[in-house]
Amino acid sequence: MRILVTGGAGFIGSHLCESLLLDGYQVIAVDSLLTGRLDNIRHLLTHPFFRFIEQDVTQGVDIEADAIFHLASPASPVGYRQYPIETLLVNSVGTYHLLELARRLPGECGRVSYSRRPPRCTVIRLSIHKGRTISGM
Ligand SMILES: NC(=O)c1ccc[n+]([C@@H]2O[C@H](COP(=O)([O-])OP(=O)(O)OC[C@H]3O[C@@H](n4cnc5c(N)ncnc54)[C@H](O)[C@@H]3O)[C@@H](O)[C@H]2O)c1
Repeated sequence: MRILVTGGAGFIGSHLCESLLLDGYQVIAVDSLLTGRLDNIRHLLTHPFFRFIEQDVTQGVDIEADAIFHLASPASPVGYRQYPIETLLVNSVGTYHLLELARRLPGECGRVSYSRRPPRCTVIRLSIHKGRTISGM
């Protein structure tokens, strides 16, 4: 099963890629490196099931995958302030492109959101089905 992770060179995305590879999935990480770093995934670049594509998802995404985790976005509050227009675009236009991609996949489309206030740590056990899209904002 092939999983697309947008924001795959970011803090959460890079750990997710690592975890998915450990679980035996093929992983394609797409990242513009706006706030992410290649160093976060350097150790994965030689993994036979891992592929990295440097790309801005607001320009469209045409990658075949069975499931999508959409984590590309500067993170609040520092990132939002530093990159306000980029944040707006990736969470609107970028998400639109990912949803269009997900529409072409069989299965359901899901979404994950987080709460800072009250601070909450929720552990979600994800079972991955074909066509599921997970988006973090
Ligand atoms: N880190 C947290 O504690 C936290 C908490 C709540 C929510 N989130 C959400 O999770 C998501 C990821 O957060 P993070 O902490 O990993 O941030 P991060 O900045 O480390 O990672 C985001 C990644 O997205 C990439 N990116 C940004 N715009 C892009 C674009 N247009 N095309 C392709 N790649 C792009 C960046 O280069 C970066 O690698 C964000 O939506 C964030 O708001 C994070």
